[in-house]
Amino acid sequence: MHYRQKHLLAIEGLHPPEIGQLLDLAENYVLLNRSGKTQRDLLRGRTLINLFFEDSTRTRTSFELAGKRLGADVLNMSVSTSSVNKGETLLDTAATLNAMHCDLLVVRHGQSGAPNLLAQKVDAAVINAGDGTHEHPTQALLDALTIRRRKGRLEGLTVAICGDVAHSRVARSNIHLLNTMGSRVRVIGPPTLIPAEVAELGVEVFHDMAAGLAEADIVMMLRLQRERMTRGLVPSAREYFRFFGLDAEKFALARPDALVMHPGPMNRGVEIDSAVADDPERSLIREQVEMGVAVRMAVLDTLARSGRNA
Ligand code: CP
Repeated sequence: MHYRQKHLLAIEGLHPPEIGQLLDLAENYVLLNRSGKTQRDLLRGRTLINLFFEDSTRTRTSFELAGKRLGADVLNMSVSTSSVNKGETLLDTAATLNAMHCDLLVVRHGQSGAPNLLAQKVDAAVINAGDGTHEHPTQALLDALTIRRRKGRLEGLTVAICGDVAHSRVARSNIHLLNTMGSRVRVIGPPTLIPAEVAELGVEVFHDMAAGLAEADIVMMLRLQRERMTRGLVPSAREYFRFFGLDAEKFALARPDALVMHPGPMNRGVEIDSAVADDPERSLIREQVEMGVAVRMAVLDTLARSGRNA
């Protein structure tokens, strides 16, 4: 048992054996899910609350499915109809949930660091489901599982992360995980969407798709996160697609066996062309969603056994 932490707040700081343990366990859950069997005794009597202050389709639903498949009582707290709208603070909301003896708290919040703050205030194990531009650890784990299953390894692969890196918690978590596991990471995008400090994370920076995609094994596309932009950072969606959108012509610049990924939600015709996104041979986008359930089952299972929840 390498992962002994109470929470999962970030990929940064995790060691290869901890990541490897979570991925290996998730492999088991892929097989279990495909067989149609469940393990409803594992989290029986435990309560999982999904607390999402930002929109979500994949993450919230897969945590709900993961919790239910392991036998937990799962509650989805609808923030839009909660007392948050009456001015209740994040910490008072946390104290309220704490009084209900929640065991696992899955949090998505627009402010970087919100899950860390909650983790100091509640008894539950806290899982970061995406905080501001900081991290989205379970997304990076499911991406790594998807890559490892298809390529057989993470070490030595060249992974190009393309687009709005500046606002992407997915990019940040993936950079930490892939670097830790021995991949070579590149980021590609216009200078307005690539923060200068990203080079300090140990990635190669490209502002040209042709140069950045050359020899890439994996091409990971990112959505333009307009909701986090405080000013116009791209001239127009059309022009952005022309230079940085992934179509078949640009994808052909990567290795012939390169695979494409996208965390979703996709904006077709902005960062990715439908012909690439829907290519059954080379797109991993649907598989990423499947891996998301298995990874979240592995995380819930691990946290239920480790830390103070053991
Ligand atoms: N990838 C991801 O986090 O998707 P959702 O916003 O739908 O959860």
